[in-house]
This record gives sequence, structure tokens and C-alpha cells, in this order.
Amino acid sequence: MMANQKGACECRQETEEQKYQRISRVIEEYKGREGSLIQILHMAQGIFGYLPLELQQFIAQKLDKPLSEIYGVTTFYSFFATKPRGENTIRVCLGTACYVRGGKKIIDRLQEILSIGVGETTGDGKFTLEVMRCIGACGLAPAITINDQVYKQVNPDKLQTIIEKYY
Ligand code: FES
Repeated sequence: MMANQKGACECRQETEEQKYQRISRVIEEYKGREGSLIQILHMAQGIFGYLPLELQQFIAQKLDKPLSEIYGVTTFYSFFATKPRGENTIRVCLGTACYVRGGKKIIDRLQEILSIGVGETTGDGKFTLEVMRCIGACGLAPAITINDQVYKQVNPDKLQTIIEKYY
């Protein structure tokens, strides 16, 4: 096993057991600090890719908190996923400006193109579709993001072309 200077594992194929060992170390480090739960959940999502219920139970037990508290946080914040995400995450802004300028039409068109609903992942594991709140691009609404890329003034008719870039 290789480790960088900070001791983080650089292995490509980590076993579940190794992932749980890593998150245990994170929990020990962050436990008791202010806002630690969100940080721990972020790190857990980074390690596992999403936050399955077994992992939430593990974190609850280690932090000595009720599972309902962990579950409440993971479901409240849209950046936490409780199911495996696709290779690419498409998020459509439904903040006021984007909604008024056609955000809903964008969602409808994406659902049609991808044949999935919001919160779902395509059968080939390529795309997950989510909605998000304002990302500060209101002047150029409607906006969507695909992974870290922001697309502004999106026209529903251009979505197919945008999506094709990710195949
Ligand atoms: S409302 Fe969509 S970017 Fe602000």
C-alpha cells in the first residue's frame, strides 16, 4: 500500500475494510469539533462515493449520535448522495431566476433525453440528474452544471448536444 506524505492512501482499489478504516481515522480526528458532522460526511462521501445507510449507521455509532440525526443531515443537503451516483452529475438550478426563465423546461427535456427522473441515474451509470438551488449565475439564467462545469443561458434544444460531449 502506498501513502503520500500526509498518510493518505493512494491505492486505486481500496477494499471496503480499508475504506472503513480511513473513515474511522477521520471520525477520530474530527470528533468533538464544531461542525464536525458535515465535515465527516463530506469526507465519507469522498471515500465511498456516496453515503449508504450502513455507512450512516457506522458514523452514528462512532459519534454516539442517533441515526436520525445523521440521516436528517444527509437528506437535507443536496450535495450528499445516499445512492451511488453516475459517472457524471447533472444539476439543474431551480432557484427563482432560473425557474422563471425556464428551469422547469430544462428538467423536463433532460428527463426525456435521459429517460430518468430527478434523483435517478441512467441504466448505463453515465448520468445522475439532480436539482440545486441558486449558484449565483442568475444574470445568465437558466443555469445547469455537469460535474464542475457551469452552463449558462441553457436552451432546452441544445441539451442533447451538451450531453453528447460526455459520452
Ligand atoms: S437562480 Fe439559478 S443561478 Fe441563481
